Amino acid sequence: MEHGPGRVKSLPGCSSIYNSPVDFGDDVKPVSVGIVGLGTVGGGAFNLLRDNAAEISRRTGREIRVTHVGARRDNPKYDLDGVRVSREIMDVVNDPAVDIVVEVIGGTTTARDVVMQAIQNGKHVVTANKALLAEFGNEIFAAAEQKGVYVAFEAAVAGGVPIIKVLREGLAANRIDWLAGIINGTGNFILTEMREKGRDFYDVLKEAQELGYAEADPTFDVEGIDAAHKLTILASLAFGIPLQFSKAYTEGITRLTRDDVSYAEELGFRIKHLGIARRVEEGIELRVHPTLIPEARLIANVNGVKNAVLVQSSPVGATLYYGAGAGAGPTASAVVADIVDVVRELSAEKTAFVPHLAFQPNAIADTPILPMEQVVTSYYLRLTANDRPGVLADVTRILSERGISIEAILQKPAHEAGSVPVILLTKPVKEKEMNQAIAAMEALDDIIGKIVRIRLENLDA
Ligand code: HSE
Repeated sequence: MEHGPGRVKSLPGCSSIYNSPVDFGDDVKPVSVGIVGLGTVGGGAFNLLRDNAAEISRRTGREIRVTHVGARRDNPKYDLDGVRVSREIMDVVNDPAVDIVVEVIGGTTTARDVVMQAIQNGKHVVTANKALLAEFGNEIFAAAEQKGVYVAFEAAVAGGVPIIKVLREGLAANRIDWLAGIINGTGNFILTEMREKGRDFYDVLKEAQELGYAEADPTFDVEGIDAAHKLTILASLAFGIPLQFSKAYTEGITRLTRDDVSYAEELGFRIKHLGIARRVEEGIELRVHPTLIPEARLIANVNGVKNAVLVQSSPVGATLYYGAGAGAGPTASAVVADIVDVVRELSAEKTAFVPHLAFQPNAIADTPILPMEQVVTSYYLRLTANDRPGVLADVTRILSERGISIEAILQKPAHEAGSVPVILLTKPVKEKEMNQAIAAMEALDDIIGKIVRIRLENLDA
């Protein structure tokens, strides 16, 4: 791997600076990039490196050339003239001419081999693969640190929103208390359409798939697995802990009904599929679930496929990061930004990469991830009760016996069958207490079926 100074020798005049090739001089060697996977993200990065080449070079001081692409099949959308194309993707990883390997095939099997082999070959890696990092990031970063190479992953979380750089660099002076993110565009698109247009869940999901937002397996989006992958990464960066995807609590949005969306609205809340990581005295909460949030919060108004992450840290206070979380352009923006970072380091006298997980590897903490039963939060409860005197008194008695305070109560008119929907909002309580209260309420003769429970967060400082 070649390191050393790489200065721009001369720049063209200002009038043409945005689209003219920059002359770096003969002594500055271009950096060679190999892209593994030519789907939406790989193709987007390929086009972006070409379309914005001059502007990017002005930032790096060096030319970046995509010299080798690994793709199992042709993609006529991209003009690969002059680029070596291999059907066998490991050929890219083993190409001695390639300095940086961009892994954008996704998944955790071949992608893992690609990344580990690239590291073993002494190449830097740029990846958009949140599942790979959430599940195998600890071993990947350890291998990279041992080899003295870097694995950059801005595109793995929130697409074009530079949240990795924010947590790792922009907020480096702060103690982060919690973060809450809308980090799956497909889920947010579905919830937005359900609320605004009263559309059916599966109808909207189909449209999201057609628009190219959804993961190959849409259960990753709607069951919160994709968000949990991303949250796992954010939590490690925020708190300096190892990646622990298996300990994340994950609950999807498939059981949400139109009724709950509109009752929440009547009470002044929106339902969002949030990833929440919070540091409390006993450990760290790491959870993805539908969440009521006050409609006045900026993040409650993040709609459609957009992503947003709200970070509460000290001393800066609350900061919010918003933008496109999926799609070719936004994700390529993040991939190419990582390439630029690596190229700048390659061109420095001595490399000084930011630690992979924001904190120095020997300063990673073993703070425990809390089981869900220990999490403290407020609740929205929807009960279906027989329309008889005393039912509500029984319900409130069960709550008060457990020290659970009611914040608001809403009873809707009786159904023809003589049952009434009752909606309760509670003050914060430990999940274990709430589980017991729900079991006791469901055991009442006049409570019909299961109680719907949605967690509620005020997201205030
Ligand atoms: N399926 C993901 C989403 C794509 O909808 O946000 C970006 O990770």
